[in-house]
Amino acid sequence: MRILVTGVCGYIGSHTAIELIENGYDVIGLDNFSNSKESVLQDIKKIVNKEFKFYKGDMLDRSLLEKIFKENDIDGVIDFAAYKAVGESKEKPIEYYINNVSSVLNLLSVMKENNVKTLVFSSSATVYGSPKEVPIKEDAEIGGTTNPYGTSKLFVEKILNDLYDSDNTWNICILRYFNPIGAHKSGFIGENPNGIPANLVPYVAKVAKGELDHLNVFGNDYNTKDGTGVRDYIHVVDLSRGHVQALKKLEQEKSGLFIYNLGTGIGYSVLDIIKTFEKVNNIKIPYEIAPRRSGDIDICYSNPEKAKKEIGFVAKYNLEDMLKDAWNYEKNSH
Ligand code: NAD
Ligand code: UFG
Repeated sequence: MRILVTGVCGYIGSHTAIELIENGYDVIGLDNFSNSKESVLQDIKKIVNKEFKFYKGDMLDRSLLEKIFKENDIDGVIDFAAYKAVGESKEKPIEYYINNVSSVLNLLSVMKENNVKTLVFSSSATVYGSPKEVPIKEDAEIGGTTNPYGTSKLFVEKILNDLYDSDNTWNICILRYFNPIGAHKSGFIGENPNGIPANLVPYVAKVAKGELDHLNVFGNDYNTKDGTGVRDYIHVVDLSRGHVQALKKLEQEKSGLFIYNLGTGIGYSVLDIIKTFEKVNNIKIPYEIAPRRSGDIDICYSNPEKAKKEIGFVAKYNLEDMLKDAWNYEKNSH
C-alpha cells in the first residue's frame, strides 16, 4: 500500500514513517520544513535502511498535491502537517487556520479528484476542551477549545464528519492523541522544537542538559493528587504503531468514519514526571513552583478501550521507557 505522509519530517511523522516502512508500506513523504530539518530524511533512512520518495513543498500548494497524486499511485494519506504551538496560535490565528484547515481542504479536494478516499488524520485530546469526566471516552462532548490551535483541530474534525455524511464511501480515521513524548530507541530522531520548548518533557530534557537552569511547574493548586497538572503521556513509538493499526482497520473496513483516542489510560502529574526522570536518568531536575499557565486544565487522560477493542492498540512502553528515551535523544542530539 502506498501512503502519502504529510509532515513526514516532524516529530510524529518521522516515527510513523519508520513504523510504516518496517510494516511493508511504501511511504511518499511531503514536508516544507517549517518545523523540521531536512536531515531527518537521512536519519529515517539510516534507521530503516531503505530509500523512500520525498517531496519538499507546502500542502497549501494545490498544484504540488496534484503533481504528487499524478506521479504516484497513492492508496491513502496520513496527514500530520500542521502548526502545533498553542501559545503561538493565539498570536497568529490566521496563519494557524490557513495552515491547519485550508491545507486539509486542499488535500481533501485533490484526494477526491483522484478518487483516493482513505485518510488518517492527526487530531488531539485538546478537542475535548476541559473534560467533564476522566478517563475520557471518544463519545465525550467535544468543543470548548481555548486557543486557535485546538479550534483548528475541532474544525477539521467537523469537516471530516460533513465530508463523510456527504459521501459514505470515504474511509477516515481520526486519531486523538494525548501527550506524545520520548523518542526512537536509536536516539537518531526525537522531538526537537525550535527555541525554548513549550511542552513539559522537552523542557525537562533541556534542564537535564544544563541548557536551561530550572523547570517552572505551572501551578500546584490543581484538583489532583499532588496539585500539579495530570496528563496521559504516551511513547511516540507506541503512538506511531497506532497509525499502522488504524490503516489496517481502514483496509479491512473499506469505508467509514472512525475515531480513536491514542493514550495509555494512565495519568501522571508534573511531579511524577520530574521524579521519574530523575530516577531513570540519574540527573537532578531543579524546579520551582510558578503560577498556573493560562488555558491549562487540571486533569486529562484517556479511556483507551475503544482503540484496544477495535484496532488492537495497546501502548507497550511505560513512563520510565518514555523518559529514558527522551533523554537518550536529547543527550545525543545537536
Ligand atoms: P511537528 O511540528 O514536529 O511536525 C509537523 C510537520 O509538518 C513538520 O515537519 C512541519 O515542517 C510540517 N508542516 C507543517 N505545515 C506544513 C505544510 N503546510 N506543508 C508541508 N509540511 C508542513 O508536529 P508533530 O508533533 O509531529 O505533530 C504532528 C501532528 O500531530 C500535527 O497535526 C499536530 O497538530 C498533531 N498533534 C500533535 C501533538 C503533540 O503533542 N506533538 C498532540 C496532538 C496532536
Ligand atoms: N508544564 C509545566 N511546566 C512547563 C511545561 C508544562 O509545569 O514548562 C505542565 C503543564 O502545566 C501541564 C503539563 O506540564 O500540566 C503538560 O504540559 P504540556 O505543555 O507538555 O502539554 P499539554 O497537555 O498542555 O498540551 C499537549 C500539546 C497540545 C495538545 C495536548 C493534548 O502541547 O498540542 O497536549 O493532546 F493539544
